[in-house]
Amino acid sequence: MPELQVGDRRWSVAASSNLLDALNSAGVAVPYSCRAGSCHACLVRCLSGEPADALPQALEASKRQQGWRLACQCQVVDNLTVEVFDPLLDGLPAKVDRCDWLSSTVLRLRLVPDRPLRYRAGQHLVLWTADGVARPYSLASLPEEDRFLEFHLDCRQPGAFSDAARQLQPGDPMRLGELRGGALQYDPDWQNRPLWLLAAGTGLGPLWGILREALRQDHQGAIRVIHVAHDVSEHYLAGPLAELALVHPQVNIQLVTTAELPTALAELRVLSRQTMALLCGGPASVEQFAKRLYMAGLPRSQLLADVFLSRS
Ligand code: FES
Repeated sequence: MPELQVGDRRWSVAASSNLLDALNSAGVAVPYSCRAGSCHACLVRCLSGEPADALPQALEASKRQQGWRLACQCQVVDNLTVEVFDPLLDGLPAKVDRCDWLSSTVLRLRLVPDRPLRYRAGQHLVLWTADGVARPYSLASLPEEDRFLEFHLDCRQPGAFSDAARQLQPGDPMRLGELRGGALQYDPDWQNRPLWLLAAGTGLGPLWGILREALRQDHQGAIRVIHVAHDVSEHYLAGPLAELALVHPQVNIQLVTTAELPTALAELRVLSRQTMALLCGGPASVEQFAKRLYMAGLPRSQLLADVFLSRS
């Protein structure tokens, strides 16, 4: 049986054990969210030995060369010494600037990093509380315009991070972990094309950033925003969206409840083959959006989707 070592601890694990499970079941807390190689919350650094990595392409070559691996994608096939991501050493310090409720279930968290962070609208960032609870969230802020990093936290279900976040106060310390590409972005080449932004729940967060980025880049084509929420009170950015639409007449906002969604989707017509569609939310919603757009004639290559795989 191969042996796993973290610091001074060394123990045997069954051959081909999943590295994330092997660490967590031995009490070495490694955060995770998607278990699919997408969120990068489960980063660990291999100091000696090499695990079998099912998804090496999920990490940049430079990061892999430094020994970083995604524990959820690795199997322990030989003796392995790993170091877990230490937010105090490896993370960027930040402070809570503001933490307030946008609706009864959506918490807005604004953080100011100690050093400027280079990012683009729609990317994901792993957030660490001072107590070592971590979770990736999409950025809802705009690097060129906001001095803070903004995140929209879905607190409908209990979760280690969202429970901790409810207690945060301005000035509280946090750490920032891995910044990830995310599937969503605004490309200036789309400037004259119709742009559709379809969000469910807090999937609106990254699309809010991208909407503002498109307008900052003087997007000329029509922009359609559809936000789906369980009920009317959960259209948590209704006010700011309406204000934007007043100033930018090319922006059309449609707020839809879950019950209204089938009708709203059935009425969707893709009038231009040039339309670009960006989708964000839970798997079922994104699949529903994508299916309808595909049936309406939108080529798959013109559809970018970011799926929120799980909550923790
Ligand atoms: S990448 Fe491993 S849990 Fe998300």
